[in-house]
Amino acid sequence: MNNFTFYNNTRIHFGEGQISAIASEIPQNKKVLVLYGGGSIKNNGVYEQVQTALTDHDWDEFSGIEPNPQYDTLMKAVEKINNEGFDYLLAVGGGSVIDGTKFIAAAACFKGNDPWDIVSKYAPVDTALPLGSVLTLPATGSESNGGAVITRGQDKLGFGSPLVRPAFAVLDPTTTLSLSARQSANGVVDAFVHVMEQYLTYPVNAKVQDRFAEALLLNLIEEGPKVLRTPDDLEVRANIMWSATQALNGLIGAGVPNDWTSHMIGHELTGNFGIDHARSLSIVLPAVMDVCRVEKEAKLLQYAQRIFGINEGSTEERIEQAIGSTIAFFKSMGVPTTLSEVDLDISSIEVLLNSLEAHGMTALGEHGKNDLIKARAILETAL
Ligand code: NZQ
Ligand code: ZN
Repeated sequence: MNNFTFYNNTRIHFGEGQISAIASEIPQNKKVLVLYGGGSIKNNGVYEQVQTALTDHDWDEFSGIEPNPQYDTLMKAVEKINNEGFDYLLAVGGGSVIDGTKFIAAAACFKGNDPWDIVSKYAPVDTALPLGSVLTLPATGSESNGGAVITRGQDKLGFGSPLVRPAFAVLDPTTTLSLSARQSANGVVDAFVHVMEQYLTYPVNAKVQDRFAEALLLNLIEEGPKVLRTPDDLEVRANIMWSATQALNGLIGAGVPNDWTSHMIGHELTGNFGIDHARSLSIVLPAVMDVCRVEKEAKLLQYAQRIFGINEGSTEERIEQAIGSTIAFFKSMGVPTTLSEVDLDISSIEVLLNSLEAHGMTALGEHGKNDLIKARAILETAL
């Protein structure tokens, strides 16, 4: 196992009715800005619960943070904060609202000239407004991690800082009952790929991380199709919600190599062609497994055996079956697994490679060896 330092100080309030916990989480003397997206929280009772919990607080709201949160929208919130003096942010929504709020928290305190530098030049985040989160879409893990992904035009870029990790996260599975089948499936697939990118590298004898990751994969494979069949089953929703949080709260990725190739190529698919985040991943991951099968061989065999019970056949046959089983799982979730399914052909590959190069994504993978040649092979395999 590699050396690591692990610290996650997000307090989790899990279960029905837990939105009321924000009343005591946010200090009484804070002026709170509640941030949300396109209005789903007004249709599923979440907004009312937040309103009730904040009865004794001084607060206002900012709405309209879009999926793949847009820089220009977020800067409008920064302007409101600077004009009206808010000193606590509450993100209510999915990963986009929480990520957007993290950027706003950092940008509102940014001392440099251009807050876009936070994502485009990794300008250091020295201070940030405190924030909390009420999660309504289990997927990204953003509710208890320090990462965020922001979009400006075709540029979809990330940043991370412990200063923007939410102080608390409310995870009430009943808030997820209003999700569409598409968003529910997206969430399961995104969480699944987060686990895979921290697991499917090379062995470092990190047994806790491996077996914890395998538990999350098995849960998602078991519960994922159920959420499409029985969307009102609260126990299924609860298990998915907790799995997605654990998938990217830092625990399983500590002390092990990580490979975020699928996410980095996926971000270009979203930035250039508007493909949903999770659907970009279900297209790219099987191709990464295929093209990187030599460097990932030992973990691919472990994955084949422990997740799908594949014990028979040659190494190549077992790897083929593991990739096939992964694709079958994605298909059972109704997400695409090839570029052609989202109407992209070979001409898209040049666009994607140019974007990867422009964003400096030319040394990806657990060994830093996934260059543009490898990215081309991955994208051609994904056709
Ligand atoms: O805007 P509203 O009205 O809230 O509607 C949203 C949005 O249209 C809707 N929704 C959310 N909760 C709902 C609901 N609809 C009905 N009922 C509910 N309970 O779902 C739509 C999608 O929401 P979004 O927040 O965009 O989805 P998701 O949570 O998948 O977030 C995706 C974003 O997170 C980033 C992605 O790149 C993408 O920008 N990621 C962030 C990460 C992180 N911070 O660690 C890691 C991830 O890999 C990912 O990159
Ligand atoms: Zn993701």
